[in-house]
Amino acid sequence: MIEFKNVSLSYNSKLVLKKINLTINDGEFCVLIGASGCGKTTLLKLINKLNKVSSGKVLIDGEDINKLSLRKLPGKIGYVVQEAGLFPHLSVAENIALSLELAEYPKNERDARIDKMLDLVNLEPSLYRDLYPSQLSGGQRQRVGVARAFAPNPSIVIMDEPFSALDPVTRANLQDEILRIQQAMQKTIVFVTHDMDEAIKLASRICILEDGVIAQVGTPAEILKHPVNKDIEEFIGPHKLWRNPDLIKVSEIMLKKVPALENSATVHDARALMKKMEVETLFLTQNGKLLGTITAKSLR
Ligand SMILES: Nc1ncnc2c1ncn2[C@@H]1O[C@H](COP(=O)(O)OP(=O)(O)OP(=O)(O)O)[C@@H](O)[C@H]1O
Ligand SMILES: [Mg+2]
Repeated sequence: MIEFKNVSLSYNSKLVLKKINLTINDGEFCVLIGASGCGKTTLLKLINKLNKVSSGKVLIDGEDINKLSLRKLPGKIGYVVQEAGLFPHLSVAENIALSLELAEYPKNERDARIDKMLDLVNLEPSLYRDLYPSQLSGGQRQRVGVARAFAPNPSIVIMDEPFSALDPVTRANLQDEILRIQQAMQKTIVFVTHDMDEAIKLASRICILEDGVIAQVGTPAEILKHPVNKDIEEFIGPHKLWRNPDLIKVSEIMLKKVPALENSATVHDARALMKKMEVETLFLTQNGKLLGTITAKSLR
């Protein structure tokens, strides 16, 4: 569990994060989203101690992050950055091995672990182990970046716009894969993006930042249905809810005023009501209870 408690951070007296309170539970896929410069990367880097709070606290599993030694960090928190950030002079296997070494992963298990992680991100180990980052496509480099972050089996993985430089097809594939990996490995993932479609697809919870402040936190469905302000409404854009029908329950779109007749009504009443309500089917009720339906055809 990651907790931000009243966290503020300033760079050279400029306040960049303002009293952030957020709890990210174990196994959650939390997506941080917001406009450029709103503080997403700054907030993310607090989790792996690349940034320091000016005031407030960051806790991991209830423990103040200041007490967590830097040496323990690589084994506990994986980090994926944009463009993968691989070391160019190290091969694919060496890049992953370095992360295992930093995390003090058992020496005799490292080789097998590298192959397992490459398999996990769909790179055939025998073909890719010895290639260098410059010999890979952008998508393949990003896969290695993901494999490297998950390799030491950290409980938390933080990802900063990991797929934003990829073409839409590669990007969609990697999104599917990260969801699959998350399901298989049950990590706590904090993922930064500024793409709302990506957030909706991946997140169990979305946290929207605006100018260093949390503007709204909720499930994708909650945010799409009840954006708390005009900026978020605009950020989401029109019709997005309707393009995600898996987020809509039929109870939310059912008609509450249904064309119904009590069973004492005549054929004439039924025809008149159909005409008035411009429908071809009526419900027949007795004391408000449904008895059956009448259609225009059956009336004819
Ligand atoms: N090392 C730094 N020194 C001074 N100011 C910084 C530093 N890093 C970031 N900032 C400032 O903090 C603010 C938030 O930056 P941050 O990188 O967190 O934004 P972001 O939401 O990740 O944006 P983007 O989507 O463009 O990556 C910006 O105004 C930025 O200029
Ligand atoms: Mg950023």
